[in-house]
Amino acid sequence: MADLAGVVRKALEGVVNPSTGASVLESQVEDLRIQDGVVSFGFTLQPDDPGSLVREARAAVESVAGVDKVKIDVRLPQSLQEGGAQQPPPRQPAPGSVPAPEPQEGLLPGVDHFIAVSSGKGGVGKSTVAANLAVSLARQGHRVGLLDADIYGPNIPIMFGEKRRPQVTGSRGAERIMPLETHGVRLMSLGFLLEEEQPAIMRGPLVTGVLRQFLEQVEWGDLDYMVIDLPPGTGDAQLSLVQTIDLDGAVMVTTPQEVSTGDVRRAIRMFERVNTDILGIVENMSGFVCPNCEERHEIFGAGGGEALAEAMEVPFLGAVPLDTAVRSAGDVGVPTALSAPDSPAGRAFLAVAKRIVDQIAATREGAARS
Ligand SMILES: Nc1ncnc2c1ncn2[C@@H]1O[C@H](COP(=O)(O)OP(=O)(O)OP(=O)(O)O)[C@@H](O)[C@H]1O
Ligand SMILES: [Mg+2]
Repeated sequence: MADLAGVVRKALEGVVNPSTGASVLESQVEDLRIQDGVVSFGFTLQPDDPGSLVREARAAVESVAGVDKVKIDVRLPQSLQEGGAQQPPPRQPAPGSVPAPEPQEGLLPGVDHFIAVSSGKGGVGKSTVAANLAVSLARQGHRVGLLDADIYGPNIPIMFGEKRRPQVTGSRGAERIMPLETHGVRLMSLGFLLEEEQPAIMRGPLVTGVLRQFLEQVEWGDLDYMVIDLPPGTGDAQLSLVQTIDLDGAVMVTTPQEVSTGDVRRAIRMFERVNTDILGIVENMSGFVCPNCEERHEIFGAGGGEALAEAMEVPFLGAVPLDTAVRSAGDVGVPTALSAPDSPAGRAFLAVAKRIVDQIAATREGAARS
């Protein structure tokens, strides 16, 4: 199809940035390439852009007949990439990812590894897994930060029993925010900055703005791992975040009931589409631990998460049982891996954390060798 490129360009021309009035083709799209029905391009997202702009551009190109796949490499403008005096060496792209993402140098150069915790659906235990992963890594001697990126329903503060407010310094417009340190983990959440009971009702553009602020204005310092608790699904927050920082990968949380639905598969595909590795799948609420005899009962059948991991060709990181210790840990504000490390769920969380560390090391080694 000789003029496919022309039709694709026309489609992008029709997407107008509401904050500038200009077409995205003119001002934001670069390195447009088309090969065998796969369209790829870079997209520079400006701070004031609505979070839906990239999605609109994608939809416009996807609707062109003859286009099978669209790969967008979202980039930050130069002005936002500067500011770190020490630039880290460029990171190795994950094996198999195309096109190679632009490393976001300068943004949090003191953080060695970024791990996002995500899911297809809400309520499957993302925040629980993120909180336990963070304290498990801290217990294993690492310097750890936990960013609550679920700004619609930030519940990391409750899971850590943290009621203090972070210290804010600096002049207006250039504030620096100190993360709170709890159970050996540096924490930041919109929950710390909101009045209690105030609902966090926000729209897409605001979501990406707050996340960017959390990455840029919070004094995270030097960390071995930053764990990021994402909101459920595959919306703007996920897209913008995974493109703003160079994630080591995403941990996908699912439950036995959800394994058969398309949600988790869709979420995995979304990450793959934006060149993010899947570090693996955690099956949460897998089987029920009887509070009296500590015996485990498989209510929904065993092995679903593992089978899904195999089918999607991603690692299986472990199964965490439905355990009353987990819920009570939430009530007392100490994640299970710390409050009950020997409980079935506590042991499972610690093992998952260990596997994630191994998985990151293996991925890095593989990337360095290739
Ligand atoms: N393994 C488990 N055993 C028992 N209860 C659990 C377990 N995992 C999570 N829960 C409970 O399930 C509820 C939902 O968990 P959580 O808030 O972590 O889910 P989420 O995926 O982050 O939800 P959301 O999509 O709303 O952010 C919480 O009350 C939590 O204590
Ligand atoms: Mg959550």
